[in-house]
Amino acid sequence: EFHGQVTLDGPSGTGKSSVARAVAARLGAAYLDTGAMYRAATVAVLDAGVDPEDAEAVARVVAGARIEVGTHADTERVEVDGTDVAVRIRGAEVTRAVSAVSAVPAVRRQLVDQQRSLVAAADAVVVEGRDIGTVVLPDATVKVYLTAAPEARAQRRAAQLGLTTADEVAELAADLRRRDEYDSSRADSPLRPAADAVVVDSTDLGREQVVDRVVELARSAV
Ligand code: C5P
Repeated sequence: EFHGQVTLDGPSGTGKSSVARAVAARLGAAYLDTGAMYRAATVAVLDAGVDPEDAEAVARVVAGARIEVGTHADTERVEVDGTDVAVRIRGAEVTRAVSAVSAVPAVRRQLVDQQRSLVAAADAVVVEGRDIGTVVLPDATVKVYLTAAPEARAQRRAAQLGLTTADEVAELAADLRRRDEYDSSRADSPLRPAADAVVVDSTDLGREQVVDRVVELARSAV
């Protein structure tokens, strides 16, 4: 039986979320989607009518927002001030603004504190994000960094969203590149693998193969 924390970091479009949920289910562990928390914070910012690039205003709005996420792999619960935003956080408006909101240091401090409390309450947990192995849980039991070739990531996202034309896929690829660039180059907690992370490249692997590999890493740890 697994006790401890599995961190799953990496860029978008690698299949990270579906892998993380499946790993949590297999290990009987809790699951925390930290991206959903940054997306929920972004909903609060947009609803306040604040410019996502205005760091001071963003920090103020998020400090006053109650962001709640569930920690079960099989159900998604995301609320801002008691309102269900689980569907809205996946929309294009939020996706466009989330990198700017999550680059604000005060926002990161607030959400990282909250993430650590949620993790502390769980005996076994899988946590997915960008900075979990590097910043949030530097002493995690197992750290995985999931990557994939950019074309494979754009194709995967397109399939998820039901987009098919070459133009649509090209637009998605451009959006992924823009977010990677933003997330990797920000000063606070940039996207990068922890020194002790196992890097798994999912370009040529099926989802089940990636899940098996991560479960194996977790079971053989300690
Ligand atoms: O994983 P997801 O695509 O939902 O994350 C949305 C955005 O939230 C990322 O592009 C990144 O800007 C931000 N994020 C972050 N740190 C995390 C998780 C997500 O900055 N731990």
